Amino acid sequence: NWTPGNFVTDTVKRIQEQVGSDRVICALSGGVDSSVAAMLLHRAIGSQLTCIFVNNGLLRHGEAEQVQETFHRNLGLDLRYVDAEDRFVNRLAGVTDPEVKRKTIGEEFIRVFEDAAGELDDANWLAQGTLYPDVIESETPENRTSARIKTHHNVGGLPEDMNFELVEPLRYLFKDEVRSVGLELGLPEDIVYRQPFPGPGLAIRIIGEVTRERLDLLRDCDRIVLEEIRQAGMYRDIWQSFAVLTDNRTVGVMGDYRTYGYACAIRAVNSDDAMTADWVRLPYEVLAEISTRIVNEVPGVNRVVYDITSKPPGTIEWE
Ligand code: XMP
Repeated sequence: NWTPGNFVTDTVKRIQEQVGSDRVICALSGGVDSSVAAMLLHRAIGSQLTCIFVNNGLLRHGEAEQVQETFHRNLGLDLRYVDAEDRFVNRLAGVTDPEVKRKTIGEEFIRVFEDAAGELDDANWLAQGTLYPDVIESETPENRTSARIKTHHNVGGLPEDMNFELVEPLRYLFKDEVRSVGLELGLPEDIVYRQPFPGPGLAIRIIGEVTRERLDLLRDCDRIVLEEIRQAGMYRDIWQSFAVLTDNRTVGVMGDYRTYGYACAIRAVNSDDAMTADWVRLPYEVLAEISTRIVNEVPGVNRVVYDITSKPPGTIEWE
């Protein structure tokens, strides 16, 4: 019978047989899947595993520090932190089309990852947190587009001309099973119950050009949304909740002054699989707190709207 404990025991044994004394690289994003995959590998082969964490500058507030704190300092994984903020932000200059953003970020990720992995040239295995739904999706013709989006943009996409063999310890698991395995392995609940976050990160939540300034604005708005959702005890029950920075500027008033700032949109949806989604009926009090705080604490944003569109016809992300 399937239990997280049995799964860990069996999988650790299987990984040990599979890779022997070889070295393994894992692209760690801090999301649930890559985190659990990394932990399984670490349990199985210890210091033969090196994780690479790429800070693409498109992450949420505190995320890069949290990943280092959790995996390196607390759990003792060999973690290479790659600060690639400048590379990504420079590449994104002038890019406004959503699909071009995705493509740019996907390509840059592969380059950065190759550079980092190149220094570990004795590694011949790549660990990925592929789940069963990903496997099925990539084998269904009508889903090929979404599968391609995943391989290109999810951290862990295989650089084409690198000769890695793949270790995919989560290949037969569903998300809820991955979470229970994560808990079994001692991952903190912060990581295990994380809401999904897209590979292209904040870039596809900034309408129009992605600049350092606009990333900072959105990061602040997003931090406030998540703080208030957590405060209200709703974080775990919501599929995704986040802020979007629109390219609309509107007139406002603050004290004796007229302001002209960006409108920020709040999005919160419930979903089982991201294919369909319903907007969350957030309590007015929570919305009010989010709105007041954003307008008061984030200079440059003077208006907050709530997105009440379900999927379909809307998508979860704005881009
Ligand atoms: P949409 O916006 O298509 O999103 O309703 C469905 C789910 O996929 C995530 N998403 C992405 N994830 N790379 C990713 O890794 C992407 O380019 C991408 N676009 C959307 C989105 O956050 C939601 O969970």
